[in-house]
Amino acid sequence: MAETVLDYEAEAAHYDRTRGGVPRAGAAAEAVLRLVPPGSRTLLDLACGTGLVTERLTRPGLRVYGADAAHAMLRVAADRAPGRVVRADARRLPLPDASLDAVSAVWLLHLVPFATEIVAEAARVLRPGGVLIATVDKDAAHDVGSDIDAILRPYRSAGAASDRTELIAGCAAAHGLAPRPGTRFTGHGQGGTPRDTVRKLRAGYFASWFSGDPAVVETLAAALAALPDPDRPRADPRYRLACFVRQG
Ligand SMILES: C[S@@+](CC[C@H](N)C(=O)[O-])C[C@H]1O[C@@H](n2cnc3c(N)ncnc32)[C@H](O)[C@@H]1O
Repeated sequence: MAETVLDYEAEAAHYDRTRGGVPRAGAAAEAVLRLVPPGSRTLLDLACGTGLVTERLTRPGLRVYGADAAHAMLRVAADRAPGRVVRADARRLPLPDASLDAVSAVWLLHLVPFATEIVAEAARVLRPGGVLIATVDKDAAHDVGSDIDAILRPYRSAGAASDRTELIAGCAAAHGLAPRPGTRFTGHGQGGTPRDTVRKLRAGYFASWFSGDPAVVETLAAALAALPDPDRPRADPRYRLACFVRQG
């Protein structure tokens, strides 16, 4: 199921180490829990990955499950949340309508061209009063105000991001999900370095901004490679979590 730029079957082996580990996962889980209404009894963590965030979504009375499309990620998650993770495509959850109190999706919607289908499916499985909590505008949070950003910003097309707020909010509204105030969390260890940004650029990570034009890739790579301190991470990003409540 390789429908994302990254192959998560291969990423699993080094995912936790390269995505901010426990500090990032703890910050994400704490932020998600701030938005889960008191009294909620069930939470499905969509795209649970290795379960690093999922296992931190703990609160008395809240039963937490995880779902992910990648076998290798789920194998790690199964050790962290035994018996509570399943392999599933977030567009087709093996759950009845109106069966959950909360659905979270941390770092999922920016990855896929079908984010709106995932929002629709979350709306289906939420009971009235249940909430969808999801990261939005993920890539736009990176390198803000840094020298890397100064090079990339003219090419960043927020209009193309599959997790852009207007798209997700519009789709949510169309499926009976009303906006609630969201929150933010710090992406510990996620500040980019020039060298790593060049690697991502060449791997096609930002290809949608300029249709993968190889001339643009080379221009940007040369500009990034000329920056000072190529291995010094720039400031950690602050990621945005949007929240929507299912109308009755
Ligand atoms: C960046 S990771 C995020 C993992 C976790 N939420 C975290 O914050 O550490 C993205 C995850 O989305 C999963 N994924 C991608 N497309 C999916 C889909 N259609 N349905 C379910 N999971 C999907 C990948 O397998 C991967 O584990």
